[in-house]
Amino acid sequence: MAGRVEGKVAVVTGAARGQGRSHAVKLAEEGADIIALDWCQDLATVNYPQAGLEDLAETKRIVEALGRRIVTFQTDVRDRTAVIDAVNAGVSELGHLEVVVANAGIAPLGREIPPTAWFDSVQVMLGGVITAFEASFQHMQAGASMIGIGSVAGLMPGGTDTPSSGPGGGGYSHAKRGVARMVHDLAMHMAPLSIRVNAVHPTNCNTDMLHSPAMYRTFRPDLENPTREQATKAFHALQRMPIPYVEPIDISNVVLFLASDESRYVTGQQIKVDGGGLLAASNSGAPQ
Ligand SMILES: NC(=O)c1ccc[n+]([C@@H]2O[C@H](COP(=O)([O-])OP(=O)(O)OC[C@H]3O[C@@H](n4cnc5c(N)ncnc54)[C@H](O)[C@@H]3O)[C@@H](O)[C@H]2O)c1
Repeated sequence: MAGRVEGKVAVVTGAARGQGRSHAVKLAEEGADIIALDWCQDLATVNYPQAGLEDLAETKRIVEALGRRIVTFQTDVRDRTAVIDAVNAGVSELGHLEVVVANAGIAPLGREIPPTAWFDSVQVMLGGVITAFEASFQHMQAGASMIGIGSVAGLMPGGTDTPSSGPGGGGYSHAKRGVARMVHDLAMHMAPLSIRVNAVHPTNCNTDMLHSPAMYRTFRPDLENPTREQATKAFHALQRMPIPYVEPIDISNVVLFLASDESRYVTGQQIKVDGGGLLAASNSGAPQ
């Protein structure tokens, strides 16, 4: 039986681990070849390690074991020229491009983090999404799909713009709000070309980004060094369903739908994978 994205090629940024690896693997399981980008380096303002080259190699290994092709690039999504070069080289190798999943992200949280973290958050998670879309657009035809990874932090009042999250948290929310607005506005101009643009907004997701001491302190600002157990109890506050977080595959399943032709007339949407967490926020007036 043909896979749900059989014969398509997809760019995935932040593909070395976490949700990005999960998206690459899920799309490959369903028949896509992958152009995988990840910087695989730590950022000075980010107080937990990013993926390494060995992680990107592991994504490659898994995709190839599924019988699909993958080309990997050590690329910083803040570097527009490098992203365009990587996508061009990937398309030269794999022949065409139908899907982009702009997923790379950082969470430089904490009062002690310098204000430059605000800019890093925005450059990676808003600038990086726009750049990945722009680089991919050059190769896209009718039927293509652009998918930006946002966050519930961009849709809930205040988001991560709290004193304990510091400027990096403020930049995080700003970037994610920007992704939500940007997909809406870009979708208007891509629709006449039959190219779709959507955002997926995860709640807490079980990855290295969530399991960092700084993130734990954001959820438990009353404690200096909250344990994983103490933080996990607090994680429940973001969802209405009785869960602390979703798994990467829960996001990948929505990414797969948006990448596939099953969603051929779905565009400009903000798809929340949030265990009902944002329902209260839209409790008055018409649901969004
Ligand atoms: N984990 C959560 O709770 C959560 C919740 C909502 C939204 N998100 C979003 O989901 C996306 C994926 O995050 P994740 O949870 O898989 O985290 P993660 O830390 O496991 O993965 C992020 C990946 O992005 C890469 N990356 C970081 N900076 C980069 C750069 N400048 N250029 C290229 N690659 C870079 C990292 O090396 C890493 O592989 C992010 O956009 C994040 O903001 C995560």
